[in-house]
Amino acid sequence: MVKLDISNLKLDLKTNEKLIAPYLKKIHSKKEGFYTVIDDAKVLKEIEKFAKNVKGKYENIVVLGIGGSALGAICLRQALKGLFDNKKPKLYVLDNIDPKLICEFDKAVNYKKTLFLVITKSGTTPETIGQYYYFRNQINKKKLDPKKHFVFVTDPNEGRLREIAKKEKITSFGIPKNVGGRFSVLTAVGLLPAALIGLNIRKLVSGGQKMRDKFVSEKAENNLPFKLASLQYLLYKKGQTINVLMPYSQKLIGFADWFRQLYAESLGKKGKGITPVNALGVTDQHSQLQLYNDGPNDKLIIFLEVENSGEEIAIPNFQKKLSFNKLFKIEKDAASKALTKTGHPNITIKIDTVDEENIGELFMLFEGATAFLGEFMGINAFDQPGVELAKSLTKQAILKL
Ligand code: PA5
Repeated sequence: MVKLDISNLKLDLKTNEKLIAPYLKKIHSKKEGFYTVIDDAKVLKEIEKFAKNVKGKYENIVVLGIGGSALGAICLRQALKGLFDNKKPKLYVLDNIDPKLICEFDKAVNYKKTLFLVITKSGTTPETIGQYYYFRNQINKKKLDPKKHFVFVTDPNEGRLREIAKKEKITSFGIPKNVGGRFSVLTAVGLLPAALIGLNIRKLVSGGQKMRDKFVSEKAENNLPFKLASLQYLLYKKGQTINVLMPYSQKLIGFADWFRQLYAESLGKKGKGITPVNALGVTDQHSQLQLYNDGPNDKLIIFLEVENSGEEIAIPNFQKKLSFNKLFKIEKDAASKALTKTGHPNITIKIDTVDEENIGELFMLFEGATAFLGEFMGINAFDQPGVELAKSLTKQAILKL
């Protein structure tokens, strides 16, 4: 379960809370699908069936995708696969076109044992389509059957990838039209790679549903996304325009990366925006904390704490009864106290453990908060004209070659 501890904050949230119903109405009128798509039981079954059918066949699952088509899978792997887990299949996410990345991957990978998931909502993103053509060529050269080495996750009807899927009968999953890339982690975009590496996608979705029920609740005390968005917005208005998400969990740094894209692309519009920053506790106490404590007071620090850090690992020859678990907690509390003492806003989001259900809840907490923030700021959180502009200039430049 996700809890929000705002006891360190000196802020009156009451006034804004009255506005919940009209804001929800505005959000519903947009008919965005990120909070309803999780009720699609048919898709869950199809993904599970596919994962069951291919179990044991591949050593590598490789996502070809970028942005919202990649960050969810990276987050899920980091959070829910063991950090040093060598069990097959391994999940790789190639979310860049750096020639060095492609070349070194090409040399290292055993194509016979590899399944590529080509994930692109539009089906036209040059980076992803370029990667597809490259790896498709490699599969062809090795005389392997593309139907056994590619699966597409893309628009149900349109785009280049959909055309190829239809023509060549390549297995494919759809991304509903009303679910944007960065809001799509609980569709086949995130659920397919998750299922293929053995994660429990039902629990991910049920966590999402639990938080969704809070998100659509008109009762302010239940509505965690509204509460989070409200305090973020009130602080934004006071000049705290940067939000640092700092998980005290090695497993949740991928979540902070996912959050960074969600906030940057959704809210950075029309000269407005909350600048999202990711940080890792305790590592970044020795990298960024000086700035947060003593630099400009323009940030909200959002700690993300895992209450049960697992088996107690004692530290021998140090201080009696000290363990890494205790030291981890002591350091987080010290960082938070120091910020409060120096007058820097900070809150803590707590989960009991890092598991599928809690990650599902966290996704929906921040997606819901983003939807509210878009309304508070008077911007459309669901488009990305800045990204589209760069995409279109890239396509024009390619055509001129
Ligand atoms: O959130 C978004 O819309 C973007 O980050 C997209 O996910 C990203 O640009 C990739 O687009 P596509 O999935 O169409 O390849």
